[in-house]
Amino acid sequence: MKIFIDTADLDEIKEAASWGILDGVTTNPSLIKKAVEKMKARGKQISMEDYIKEICRSVDGPVSLEVKGRRYDEMVREAKILYEKFNGVNNNVVIKIPINTAFSPDDEQFEGIKAIKELESFGIPTNATLVMTPEQALLAAKAGASYVSPFLGRVDDFIRKNIGIKHGKMDYWDYEAIELIEQEERKKNIEKGYEGVAAINYGDNGIYSGVELVYDVIEIYEAYGYETKIIAASIRNARQVRQVAMLGVDIATIPFIVIKEMISHYKTMEGMKKFSEDVVEEYEEIFKS
Ligand code: G3P
Repeated sequence: MKIFIDTADLDEIKEAASWGILDGVTTNPSLIKKAVEKMKARGKQISMEDYIKEICRSVDGPVSLEVKGRRYDEMVREAKILYEKFNGVNNNVVIKIPINTAFSPDDEQFEGIKAIKELESFGIPTNATLVMTPEQALLAAKAGASYVSPFLGRVDDFIRKNIGIKHGKMDYWDYEAIELIEQEERKKNIEKGYEGVAAINYGDNGIYSGVELVYDVIEIYEAYGYETKIIAASIRNARQVRQVAMLGVDIATIPFIVIKEMISHYKTMEGMKKFSEDVVEEYEEIFKS
C-alpha cells in the first residue's frame, strides 16, 4: 500500500519524506488554508506559488492540488493553470476534482464528472474527491479518473451524527457492533410482521462505515477491471489505516498525526527502555572499535 500524506504543511511533508515512507501528498483548500494560517502566525511572508512548488519538490510521488471552481469550464481552466504552473517542477501534479460540485439537489450534478473526463482526455491526471458512495466511485472510474478518494472519516461522521452518537474527530467507529445491533432490532420487528423495519437504519443507504465504503469500491473496480487507483482518504486513526490495508487498497492518504500514531506502541517503548538498560559492559565493548 502506498502512503500519501494528507496535508499542505511543508514541515510535515518534509519530515514524513525524511522517514522514507512517503509516496505522495494530497492537499485541498482547507489544508492549504491551515498551512497558510500557520505560516502567517509565524510571521512568514508566503508566495503561494513558491510554497506549492516546494511541496512538489519535496516528494517523489503524486501531489494532488484541488481546483476551486464549481462549473465544469471553470474547473478545466483552473486545472490547466495548476498543471502548467506546477507540473514542470517535479512532473508529479494530479488535479483534484470534486466528484459533484452541487451545493443543493437543484444544482448541476455532473460538472465534476465532465471536468474529469475532459482533463483525462488531455492527459492531465485527476483525483476524484469528496467521494462518499460506491456509486460516485463507479462514475469517477467511468469518466476515466486516475485516482478516486473515498472519504472514510466523513462517512463515519455522517452515520454517527444520524444516529446521535457523540464522538471526537479521531475516534474509531465500531461499525460492526452497530450493524449487529441493527440486525437484532430488525429481527425483533420482523417477528412482529415487519412492523417498523424500514425505520431501523443505522447506516447510510446500506453503508455502515467509511471502511465498508472502501471495500465496496474495491469490489466494484475489481469486478470490471477499472484502473482508477483508490486512495482511502479522510482517515482519522491508525486502526482505519490497518483496515484499509487489509482490504488491499492501493493508497491511503494519512494526516501527519496518524502516521505518527502508526509507529507508536506503549509496549514497544517499554521494551526499548529495557533493552537499553540491559546492555552489559561486554556488549558495549564491541561498539568501541
Ligand atoms: O483527503 C481528504 C481529507 O483531507 C479530508 O479529511 O479529516 O477533513 O475529513 P477530513
